[in-house]
Amino acid sequence: MLSVSGLSKRFGGFLAVNQVSFEVRQGELLGLIGPNGSGKSTTFNLIAGTLAPSAGSIRFDGAEISGLPPYRVCRMGIGRTFQIPRPFRKLPLIENVALGAYYSQAGGITQSEARRRAEEALALVGLPTAADATTHGLGAAALKKLELARAIATGPKLLLADESLGGLDPAEMAGAARLLADIRSRLGMTVVWVEHIMGALMPVVDRVIVLDHGEKIFEGSPDTCARDERVIEVYLGRRRESPPP
Ligand SMILES: Nc1ncnc2c1ncn2[C@@H]1O[C@H](COP(=O)(O)OP(=O)(O)OP(=O)(O)O)[C@@H](O)[C@H]1O
Ligand SMILES: [Mg+2]
Repeated sequence: MLSVSGLSKRFGGFLAVNQVSFEVRQGELLGLIGPNGSGKSTTFNLIAGTLAPSAGSIRFDGAEISGLPPYRVCRMGIGRTFQIPRPFRKLPLIENVALGAYYSQAGGITQSEARRRAEEALALVGLPTAADATTHGLGAAALKKLELARAIATGPKLLLADESLGGLDPAEMAGAARLLADIRSRLGMTVVWVEHIMGALMPVVDRVIVLDHGEKIFEGSPDTCARDERVIEVYLGRRRESPPP
């Protein structure tokens, strides 16, 4: 479904994404992990058109999308969430989500259809659908759900979820993992999930890609990932050769 090849992004003299290649298969739930600053969000921004690549190709459903503006990428069927939620605080929840539906349809959608889609998306993530429900008082976990609902309302074939659940407690993290698994199985969406906490993601993903300093250092099953020397080194530091004296 998605084929990324030789993707690079340079900020001045700094290579944030360095020659990254990978494929996403239709229907899969793929985990994209790596330490802070390893290039995960930048990779999403390159695919979603928020940033233009310095080099490389991004093909979606056979078409080259590299360098297209975000609204065109969205209308081709790629939805994305942002790591830092920034809802429209003055709009009710339902309108925040309905905006996603309008954005993806270039205006060719009625108000009632946009609201229907928004209600569906809100119900799926477990947020209130009432017309007067607002963002007031929503915590970190609920704001992440709102991000997901907004992306789902665009009706994507491929969902790029930049979750990074750092601020969530273990129960909320497990809930977020279940929700993404649900989105894949119930809506049939293909999902790439960015996260830097391995424990939350590993139980639900089919496959994992690991980035470190902008480079892909691993691709494979969650099981082999957890045993991979290089991945362990990146997350935990180098193993001692011999016990300390
Ligand atoms: N617009 C930008 N200009 C300059 N440097 C940037 C820009 N965006 C990201 N970077 C740098 O690129 C590197 C990769 O950042 P990125 O946000 O992709 O990391 P990440 O893997 O998503 O990290 P985290 O787990 O903390 O979310 C970081 O060193 C970051 O400071
Ligand atoms: Mg990030």
